[in-house]
Amino acid sequence: MKTARPPGPAAELVALRLRLAEAEETLRAIRHGEVDALLGPGRQGGQVFSLAGAEHAYRMLIEAMNEGALTLTTEKMILYANECFARMVKCPLEQVTGSSFRRFLSAADGATLRAHMKVAAQTGVKIQLLLHAGDGSKLPVQISIRPLAKEGGKNLIIGMVVTDLTESRRTEETLRALTQRVVQVQEAERGQVALELHDNITQLLCAILVRSQTLADQLSTHDGPAQQEALKLRDLLGHTAEEVECITRNLRPGVLELLGLDAVLRATSTEFTARTGVVVTLTGVALTARLPPDTELALYRILQEALKNVHKHARAHQVSVHLARHGNTVQLLIKDDGVGFNTQRPPASSKGGSRLGLLGMRERAAYVGGTLTVKSVRRTGTEIEVKILLSPGSSTVN
Ligand SMILES: Nc1ncnc2c1ncn2[C@@H]1O[C@H](COP(=O)(O)OP(=O)(O)OP(=O)(O)O)[C@@H](O)[C@H]1O
Ligand SMILES: [Mg+2]
Repeated sequence: MKTARPPGPAAELVALRLRLAEAEETLRAIRHGEVDALLGPGRQGGQVFSLAGAEHAYRMLIEAMNEGALTLTTEKMILYANECFARMVKCPLEQVTGSSFRRFLSAADGATLRAHMKVAAQTGVKIQLLLHAGDGSKLPVQISIRPLAKEGGKNLIIGMVVTDLTESRRTEETLRALTQRVVQVQEAERGQVALELHDNITQLLCAILVRSQTLADQLSTHDGPAQQEALKLRDLLGHTAEEVECITRNLRPGVLELLGLDAVLRATSTEFTARTGVVVTLTGVALTARLPPDTELALYRILQEALKNVHKHARAHQVSVHLARHGNTVQLLIKDDGVGFNTQRPPASSKGGSRLGLLGMRERAAYVGGTLTVKSVRRTGTEIEVKILLSPGSSTVN
């Protein structure tokens, strides 16, 4: 009796060629809208995914889009992708269709997508990821995921629109660089004005102050009213000189360079309480080492701006300022007990103002590698948190 022999390599090659030709023909048919359904792997074995809904007109529209468009199974197998997506991932379309979407993601982004997939299957979601293209390049994209029709009431099809963010990231970076340049120029100009005020106006005021004192001394007690006037003039000039000094300090806190952030935060808080009557409590301030000059300046400017907002908008009684360092992270917390506001839609200011304060604070924080978060609750108050990550070894010991 003859036993069946296993097929030899030649027969195997023929069989493989046949399967390849069949697969290519299926892909061609899918692309031309000739296929009604696909059999793909699912949780409970093979599942049928029908393509009957993909009308030709829609297909043309999707093919003409400047965004990547895909349909996937919940296991992220790509059922359909347009040419634009194939171009984004620099992969022939025939190799994209039928493959797993995960192949275009890093492990971390794969996990992010998995985490969002459940929500996506219910309501839809938008996430930003990096697509790993076939040539090894990476593309920042926004993926909008929505559940599409359920196949036969059970197998869910997911729709994805993939938008290339390269251009908008570039614009964002240009804008950021511009804003940072504005901050630099503003600091330089403030420094210049402070210098001129100090070298010219303050010196002049001091000279007049001394003269007015001399005048008051020279007027005899017989010239009572004139002497009183001279003394009043002296006091007024003294007050003006102090005001100008205060403006100069705010414009360019020389004391920041000399004495460091602790001293300036204390002085700023004391001055604020004296001027506005709002009590400022400072905690955790004593840092053991000086921070980089840019970081100290940024934190000082943020506090200045935040206190300005408290005075202008908050109607607060108390402000607490907390500065601390945890390892390489510096944290500044400014909390008031005022009226609060809607951070998503800050109300139009009745006090005038360019509404650039919060934006400027954010830019200041970003400039030194930090982030700024604003939390506010109506009738409870506002909290501003700045976190700055210092590069190792960037601080200097006092
Ligand atoms: N501490 C706060 N308490 C209550 N509302 C605040 C507080 N800080 C900011 N706001 C609200 O947020 C808005 C935006 O603040 P932002 O500092 O950006 O602009 P502004 O103070 O109105 O103007 P500018 O700072 O440019 O002079 C304010 O108009 C105000 O309504
Ligand atoms: Mg403001």
